[in-house]
Amino acid sequence: MNEIADLPSPGHPAVAAYLADGYDGVVGMSSRFAAAICARLLRLQSEEGLHGPIAEIGAFEGRFFIALALALEPGELALGIDIFEWPDAGVKERFEANCLRHGVGPQRRVTIKGDAGAMAPDALLQHAGGRTLRFIHIDGEHSRAALTRDLALATACLAEGGLIVLDDMLHPGYPTLMVAVQAYLEANPEIVPLCIIDRETIVGATKFVLCQRSWFERYQTRLLDIFKEQIWPLGADFEPHWCLVLSRDTRLAEIT
Ligand SMILES: C[S@@+](CC[C@H](N)C(=O)[O-])C[C@H]1O[C@@H](n2cnc3c(N)ncnc32)[C@H](O)[C@@H]1O
Repeated sequence: MNEIADLPSPGHPAVAAYLADGYDGVVGMSSRFAAAICARLLRLQSEEGLHGPIAEIGAFEGRFFIALALALEPGELALGIDIFEWPDAGVKERFEANCLRHGVGPQRRVTIKGDAGAMAPDALLQHAGGRTLRFIHIDGEHSRAALTRDLALATACLAEGGLIVLDDMLHPGYPTLMVAVQAYLEANPEIVPLCIIDRETIVGATKFVLCQRSWFERYQTRLLDIFKEQIWPLGADFEPHWCLVLSRDTRLAEIT
């Protein structure tokens, strides 16, 4: 399989160049397919008139963060949040050096060293100049309790029309995260799954994209067109909500 040629267009030349010739050189975990989809979602937001800052919880060395930051419009900020202690104290320096090397200078990003679970929404929004966030990627601590806290923080900071993206969903190593997601969706009926981004490998895991219920139809209409080559025909049954599944492999099981 040609790893680059069959990716959906990320909608931005700088992101395409980074995915082709930079992504693998930054130590990290998220999938390139998901990075292309998420960059295109950011572009879609810009096309829909949504502007403003974005954030990633669990920025690590910047692999996914850089793809997101390169998809922003001039003047928009990307916040990278991490405790920056694992696997060693040099990770923050490597994050900033990787950003710089790939064109995300200090004027386009804010590095926030801290525990997302202990962060108040106001404190996070202050880093974004008091503006709410249009896109939040959650990839921090992978426990039920931590994901529940990160989801609460993201929901409190979310802009009108914003997207929350959850990494490592349905991952064999973190089976209980789904329990936290289900409880969150039941407690927050104004938020619904917009689509599922299928896994590439065990480290490039599945992501869930969530949006406000009032934005679901508007986003989905555009997704059906933008990602028509990636739509797996049966979709996902989130009981009672149904949403799109985007995959590099859109085959159905052979039954004859
Ligand atoms: C799986 S890695 C993230 C990978 C990264 N998104 C990438 O693109 O490669 C998880 C990161 O979450 C960070 N983390 C864990 N608990 C955290 C917390 N409570 N607050 C902020 N970051 C946390 C870890 O330090 C680690 O860097």
